[in-house]
Amino acid sequence: MQQFEVSPLEGGIGAEVRGLDLSREIGESVREAMMEAWLDAGILLFRGIGDSPEKQLALSRAFGELEVHPIENIRVEGYPELIWLSNRKSDETAPVYHYDGVATVGRIPWHSDLVYTTTPNRGALLRMLEMPYSGGQTGWIDTAAAYDALPETTKQRIEHLEARFSFIADPREMRFGRPNVERHDETNLEKEKAFYPHFPDTLHPLVWRHPVSGRKALCVSPLHLREVLGLPAQEGDALLHELVAHATDSRFSYVHAWQPNDMVLWDNLRSMHRAFGNPPDASRLVHRTTLKSTVAMGRLAPSANS
Ligand code: SIN
Repeated sequence: MQQFEVSPLEGGIGAEVRGLDLSREIGESVREAMMEAWLDAGILLFRGIGDSPEKQLALSRAFGELEVHPIENIRVEGYPELIWLSNRKSDETAPVYHYDGVATVGRIPWHSDLVYTTTPNRGALLRMLEMPYSGGQTGWIDTAAAYDALPETTKQRIEHLEARFSFIADPREMRFGRPNVERHDETNLEKEKAFYPHFPDTLHPLVWRHPVSGRKALCVSPLHLREVLGLPAQEGDALLHELVAHATDSRFSYVHAWQPNDMVLWDNLRSMHRAFGNPPDASRLVHRTTLKSTVAMGRLAPSANS
């Protein structure tokens, strides 16, 4: 039987798995042990062992059923369960934004995947194919630890509140946790918008209960968060600003400086992640799988006309 070791990462979430040999089949007992490690740690890092799409798919499948991503334009040809995310200035869909005055492509603010739908995924596994010469890190946040660290009064206040989430690709449209961002070239804005399908707005509780562990976690994905329901706008917005500032505190996060063929698996229902982006003249390419959740979560916003 294959042996592997698990050791905590230096940061607020995650563990590293060492010793796994992906040229061998992943047996049932190894799969079960890895599932347990994933549930416990929230994210798992596998250094340097992802040297083919087949290995990425085999490892991903050990953690559950894969789903074909709803954004068709980013599926990898010949591998429908893989999507590509590329940061190249030449890509019309990787526009240059200036963050605190620094030109950057591919920066994606903190988010949980597909939270703008009623089927947010169980998890995802990212593989580094092409490293930029600078930047390109990915960060993760433990939203269960962030929930645990809230004052009791806040926990009680948010227990039954819901928030509205929208699909947002332009960071300037963010309402909460928005970085200091500008864009100087709007040339491809219409093309970029046409690239993505329409997603109707979705409501989720601010407190998610994990379908497997039962642990509570904050659901505040700042990229997509629009408003809280049932509170006057000013009070609701103040609450969301406070929750986003709390959840994105660095004590809950781990930032990965990638090496080629590294793979990271995350539990999307107890974490958020962000891509740091890279300079416009650098290239970065990653492939990602999407693990299907076994439960539907949230509901469509009543005003959604679909
Ligand atoms: C993602 O948000 O899924 C991608 C993260 C990254 O490219 O670092």
